[in-house]
Amino acid sequence: MNVAAFDRLAEASSAFLTSLRHVLREAAFDDVFLGSCESIAPNQPDVLRVDLVRWHLRRREGAAAVLARLFAYGDAVEGDRAERVFGASLLRESIELGLVDLRDGNVRALFRMVPVEGLHVLSDDLTSDGDPVMGPGRTTQTLLAALPPQLTGDLLDVGCGAGTVALVGAARGARVVAVDISSRAVAMTQFNARLNDVACDARIGDLTAPARGERFDWIVSQPPFVASPDAEATTFLHGGRRGDELLLRLLSEIPPLLGERGRALVLADLPDVGAPWARRVVQHLGTGGSLGVLVSFGGVVDADMLAIQLGAFASSSTGRFADRIVAYRAHLADVGVERTLHALIDVRRSDVAFAAERRWERFGGVSASEFEVAWRGAELASRSEEALGASRLQLPNGARIRVDRDPVSERVAIRLEASTVRHELSEGAAAVLETIVACNSVSEALLEVLPQDAPRALVEEAFRLVRSLLVSGALIPSGR
Ligand SMILES: C[S@@+](CC[C@H](N)C(=O)[O-])C[C@H]1O[C@@H](n2cnc3c(N)ncnc32)[C@H](O)[C@@H]1O
Repeated sequence: MNVAAFDRLAEASSAFLTSLRHVLREAAFDDVFLGSCESIAPNQPDVLRVDLVRWHLRRREGAAAVLARLFAYGDAVEGDRAERVFGASLLRESIELGLVDLRDGNVRALFRMVPVEGLHVLSDDLTSDGDPVMGPGRTTQTLLAALPPQLTGDLLDVGCGAGTVALVGAARGARVVAVDISSRAVAMTQFNARLNDVACDARIGDLTAPARGERFDWIVSQPPFVASPDAEATTFLHGGRRGDELLLRLLSEIPPLLGERGRALVLADLPDVGAPWARRVVQHLGTGGSLGVLVSFGGVVDADMLAIQLGAFASSSTGRFADRIVAYRAHLADVGVERTLHALIDVRRSDVAFAAERRWERFGGVSASEFEVAWRGAELASRSEEALGASRLQLPNGARIRVDRDPVSERVAIRLEASTVRHELSEGAAAVLETIVACNSVSEALLEVLPQDAPRALVEEAFRLVRSLLVSGALIPSGR
């Protein structure tokens, strides 16, 4: 099925948008309600779970369930139930404008529309043909969680899709510019800005070209990052034959656009090519002043699972789900991608240039302030021995150290565990770590753990250990 015509809806009157906004809000079709639907068979491909979610929603009373059936799960809703939620005249106008259609007494939505942080974002069904526009998804949520809850200054959203990140950015306080190469995506972003009554300057163009010459405090992007089989390329999904080509081009455009205290956050799945990604990012950023780079990883997906996930985007015209999975798997083998790394790339102007990598158990549940602490840790780890020695460090909030002795082998396993991090420590590293958190500074701790007149090589090794504990998040700069 092709994407629905958008021209009439794009021209909808302000009065229509105000009434629609009112219905969506009054119904409490919000993040909490959608979260309850998403907790049904979580993490399964939509193709397997959507019918199950519809079954649950049909048994629920209330306007939010009707709106979720229509706009989040593509279900047909009996005309009289839809009319009770919309009201007769708004439903009629919604049909005239092509937001929904009425067939055989049932109403169906021709678009997806879901709540995000008090806003509602209209987008396409991603399994449609004809270059659908992406709305809020799980990966969009990760990007939003990494952005501070309050923003100031100017924000550029590159590859804005339906405008989710830009519009949430505006609602959090930033002045926003949103760019997409797809004219349909830009029109949808403008529609969503009007629907939610937030300001957004949406522009059509290739990557950052429409913003050339401007400076931003925030550059945010989730570019398409999926490897593209030869015969096809969908604008919202495919980032080149291997998947990272568009991302690498985007990185090279970032430095001149970054303001004096600017920060870029780019979310992508990176092909695991062996070489450290932090170094690749630095190479592609090129010259552009002193930059700090922290690449955070939040999970690994192997090529078979990736092929299954991507098969879920199989549309009616591109063949069976299972055939598509196998074809996609073969393409991944051709381009040498055996796994991808779910990554958030954080680039900032910094007086010390550095490139570090950080592994999280997963991104779900990691807040903007935890990403901030991770950044401060990586930055401190790149400083001189003098600066690092003078600093005070602590365990991450809520972390505890567990010591397990295997009763048979007597092997001791030491783990530092917090909600989103988990580290295996050697006995030596655990002893250094415990001394550091008990002392007022790293230097004071090293005086305790190192022998008097320790040779220079041993001191350097101790500092290397402290730096790696900081980068890995086993230690964080103290807020005390
Ligand atoms: C993965 S979607 C992200 C959508 C949205 N930012 C989000 O996070 O939900 C990638 C977006 O990048 C856009 N895009 C693809 N190639 C582009 C290019 N060369 N320049 C600008 N945007 C591009 C696509 O049209 C799509 O809207």
